[in-house]
Amino acid sequence: MIKTEKEEFNVLIKDIIENSSFRELDSEMHHGISRFQHSYRVAWGVYKLTKKLHFQYQEATRAALLHDFYFNYQLEENGDVKNLVEHPSMAVLNASKYYDLSERQKNMIESHMFPLCKVMPKYKESFCITLVDKLVAIYEQNRYKVGMKLGVYLLFLFNMLTLQK
Ligand SMILES: [Fe+2]
Ligand SMILES: [Fe+2]
Repeated sequence: MIKTEKEEFNVLIKDIIENSSFRELDSEMHHGISRFQHSYRVAWGVYKLTKKLHFQYQEATRAALLHDFYFNYQLEENGDVKNLVEHPSMAVLNASKYYDLSERQKNMIESHMFPLCKVMPKYKESFCITLVDKLVAIYEQNRYKVGMKLGVYLLFLFNMLTLQK
């Protein structure tokens, strides 16, 4: 018996987060955290938003979790802009090895970098994923930068104190 939203969310994504290939995203860095953590955060945000709006939240949540299912070794070296554009297609290819994605889910994943992508969002759920992904990315990058700045200041302070001895 599902009682809370968190419980429903966990049941919805259980098979994906237990997939050993998907769990390899735990060791892929993304915005200063793991790509698994980033994907989980986006999926939770999309679950909350699409459920509230009475959209296809079950499909959208799973697509959101799979939206960055790619590995650094699959990216081209020195191709940052190309990688930004190409990685959604890689995520669809990787996810399709394990899951039977609907056309709607493929579009949700392939268009998540809108407007920096080859495929345009066709569904309202696709717009939700691209929006939540951007908000989460901004949050994560700023959190990471704050941590970095704090680290630099502490290092500076430590150096000052040790130099004065
Ligand atoms: Fe992405
Ligand atoms: Fe993302």
